[in-house]
Amino acid sequence: MQLSSTDLTNSIQILNDLLAHSYSLYLKTQNAHWNVQGPSFYMLHLLFESQYQSLQNAIDEIAERIRTLDGVIEASFQKFHQKSGVKECADDYKDRYILNVLVNDHDYMIQHIRDLLKKIEKYHDDGTKDLLTSRLKDHEKMHWFLKSHIKFDNK
Ligand SMILES: [Fe+2]
Repeated sequence: MQLSSTDLTNSIQILNDLLAHSYSLYLKTQNAHWNVQGPSFYMLHLLFESQYQSLQNAIDEIAERIRTLDGVIEASFQKFHQKSGVKECADDYKDRYILNVLVNDHDYMIQHIRDLLKKIEKYHDDGTKDLLTSRLKDHEKMHWFLKSHIKFDNK
């Protein structure tokens, strides 16, 4: 059965919202990869690289899901800024600060995607629901990796 046009519009809106959030966090993680400073520089440089690459793949998947549903991808920095709840941080690149910022961002993403999952239930779009669930699990894993570094530093 085809999705109704209302369900499709709502699903596409959810995907554009997720795209804006994901793109903001992608840029923030890439910025962390470039600018991080501290005794664990190289390890964090590589960790942030693997995470921004994973976010880059996710962004492409989200955007192409929008086209699959025949929607328009809303991709401009202005649109991302308007829609994304991932906030700017200070120009502080000490490893501890960056790790804390990103841990909080992934916390926020996890909560946000859970909210989107509650919404998608109403629109009968199992394909998008599956994508959201997979995004949720990825953010939970990235959160774990980042948080583990903070715990290690505290010892
Ligand atoms: Fe690089």
